[in-house]
Amino acid sequence: MADICIVGAGHVGLVTGACFADLGNEVTCLDVNAAKIAGLQQGKLPIYEPGLEELVERNAAGGRLRFTSSYPEALERAEFAFIAVDTPSGSEGEADLSAVRRAARAVAEAMTHDLIIVNKSTVPIGTGDVVSNIFARHVRSDVRFWVVSNPEFLREGSAVQDCLQPDRVVLGGTDRAAAERVATLYEPLRCPIIITDLRTAEMIKYASNAFLATRISFINEIAAICDQLGADVKEVARGMGYDKRIGPGFLEAGLGWGGSCFPKDVRALSHMAAVHGTHPGLLRAVMEINQDARRRMVHKLRAVLEGLDERVIAVLGLSFKPNTDDVRDSPAIELARLLQHEGAIVRAYDPVASENAGALLRNVALCASAYEAAEGADAVVVATDWNEFKQLDLRRLRRVMRQPVIVDGRNVYDPAAMRALGFVYVGVGRGNHAVPPETRPPQREQPATP
Ligand code: UGA
Repeated sequence: MADICIVGAGHVGLVTGACFADLGNEVTCLDVNAAKIAGLQQGKLPIYEPGLEELVERNAAGGRLRFTSSYPEALERAEFAFIAVDTPSGSEGEADLSAVRRAARAVAEAMTHDLIIVNKSTVPIGTGDVVSNIFARHVRSDVRFWVVSNPEFLREGSAVQDCLQPDRVVLGGTDRAAAERVATLYEPLRCPIIITDLRTAEMIKYASNAFLATRISFINEIAAICDQLGADVKEVARGMGYDKRIGPGFLEAGLGWGGSCFPKDVRALSHMAAVHGTHPGLLRAVMEINQDARRRMVHKLRAVLEGLDERVIAVLGLSFKPNTDDVRDSPAIELARLLQHEGAIVRAYDPVASENAGALLRNVALCASAYEAAEGADAVVVATDWNEFKQLDLRRLRRVMRQPVIVDGRNVYDPAAMRALGFVYVGVGRGNHAVPPETRPPQREQPATP
């Protein structure tokens, strides 16, 4: 069993630390935010993530998981130091590496024995070399270090499961023996482990996120065409997904992708490409289509409500996706703002993200339930596909609304069933069912059967 220090107690750091502790390692999570550490020491988690609280509690009680703000304490016996700090977008879309640099320097200055540095933060290609240089400058001359890149692929909302049952682990380093030592930490998970060079490992992370974002933008473009031509994108995606070369995942059309990863990573990859003289035409289109998905939703609401000024709109879901309270780059928040910009009165409900959303939204009534949000509404928009919204009492919802209009931004309902319940239903690429009557394409006369 190994002694591991994790720098950064955010989503990635905390989940990774708790999972390594659960596998029997001695883990110390370090964060420079003393309030966060004080909370964690009392069992208070800074994020909502299914299963994490129990995992942290169990391993902290077992003495395998500790929290500190002190580098010397965290590194005292560590064999591995994972860097898992934020790399937010800079002003030009580039990844801001200041937290990584600060963490690297602090580890370098505090380490007193040989250490393997494992970089988990999503960092521009070449950062492994930057980190190596920082260590070379600041480390004591009698200790050795090795830098290994180990990009993280966990998703918010299923982070613990993703961490314990990964599709693969990617490791990249200049020293194969160091990468192999990191691989031993993952062996109990019995998943494919790919060992490659530093830059390739860093690129695998960006290419994976950019590809997933591309799939979503692709299906959103297909959905827009379906809206015009009367096909149903859900069925189209189902029909495509059975092809083994395509697969079924990440083909759900809707309001588009958001969160703390896809937007910043696609921007950063595009920025890297442009800086190095490659025209990132596809990546730019992927971002543009994603913005269009939100604007198209506003357009649909405008069309079905014959204008948005003073229309009351209930937005259901504010987090960037279900099972998280994260509202960073949330399509739902942007939609609410776009609607307000056109004079709409926005009411909203989210099962867990209302508090975080409240800090970003002005003049939005944050309600205690979907029914309360729908009271007096001219339309309800499903902006995030929480399971709760799939099980609403739709008759009750319709009764409290001023007009029975549902704009289903995540395609959670069946169009025919919604029409049968008396709703005007507008989905994303749901064929003729989805198009409001005034924008329905002209129906051709069927020739009489002889
Ligand atoms: C994403 C990746 O899936 C993870 O593998 C990666 O580790 C993580 O970024 C990261 O780089 O840290 P995450 O941001 O948690 O994970 O969210 P996803 O589940 O990938 O969803 C991203 C966005 O795409 C959400 O807004 C979601 O609603 C949207 N989405 C997803 C769709 O619109 N359609 C789909 O079919 C799937």
